[in-house]
Amino acid sequence: MVKKTGKKKSGMSMAVKEEKLDYNEPIEISEGIYWLGFYDKNAAFHSNPYIIKDGDEVVIIDPAGITEYPQVASKIFSMVNPSQITHIVLHHQDPDLCAAVPMLENAIENKSLKLVTHSRASVLIHYYGVKSDFYLVDKNNYTLTLKSGRRLKFMTTPFMHFPAAIVTYDETSKILFSSDIFGGLSKDWKLYATEGYQEQMAAFHRGYMPSNKFLRSFIEKIKPLNIEMILPQHGSIIKGDMVSKCMNFLKSLKCGIDLASSDKELYGWIPK
Ligand SMILES: [Fe+2]
Ligand SMILES: [Fe+2]
Repeated sequence: MVKKTGKKKSGMSMAVKEEKLDYNEPIEISEGIYWLGFYDKNAAFHSNPYIIKDGDEVVIIDPAGITEYPQVASKIFSMVNPSQITHIVLHHQDPDLCAAVPMLENAIENKSLKLVTHSRASVLIHYYGVKSDFYLVDKNNYTLTLKSGRRLKFMTTPFMHFPAAIVTYDETSKILFSSDIFGGLSKDWKLYATEGYQEQMAAFHRGYMPSNKFLRSFIEKIKPLNIEMILPQHGSIIKGDMVSKCMNFLKSLKCGIDLASSDKELYGWIPK
């Protein structure tokens, strides 16, 4: 059964308490938007695929690696018919989000399925053996408009952590799908970020992101957006007052070449 954690129309919060969430099921984050991740209590590195159900169309965001594919696929197909899936957004070319795309394509059997990404990433995603056509955001005004009129806006996030990595802003839900940015690492994982998540983000960003210069310019870029929630591909979902707290934290976080004095400083987070 799908757990709802969104808001009532009145604006009253109906958040389900974290301990009541069943991570083995899809969890509704906002109207029509679901978390489909696989929770492994022994792992510090968790991936968060998401799905947007929008009328007849379904968009999957950063689906899965091969190891998590069975769990993610069973969640997807418990909710939607394979042929409804029209787009798969791939924020960059990493295996934790792209490796299962060929398996997903075989299951979907929708000839008009599009892989939504930047052209610089598409040349690498090609090597997974994908067969669908690409929808290249840089050739489409960084926008994808669904049949309902819902608009997904894409923004480049140079060198974080791929030269042409992108993030997605859904104008309808005011959700930023932030890919690796705002990701966190910890065995003490929760679906929703609480105070202290900043340190989990630091553990991830120090070794993954190139420098504060790029991080800061990204935070400046998203500042004008009206962001209700941030849905990263790793770590926890950020909402409420944690949105501004996490933005401020990353704005001044030193990472990558700002540190680089020792491997321990950069990669000390790697679990034993
Ligand atoms: Fe990545
Ligand atoms: Fe990732």
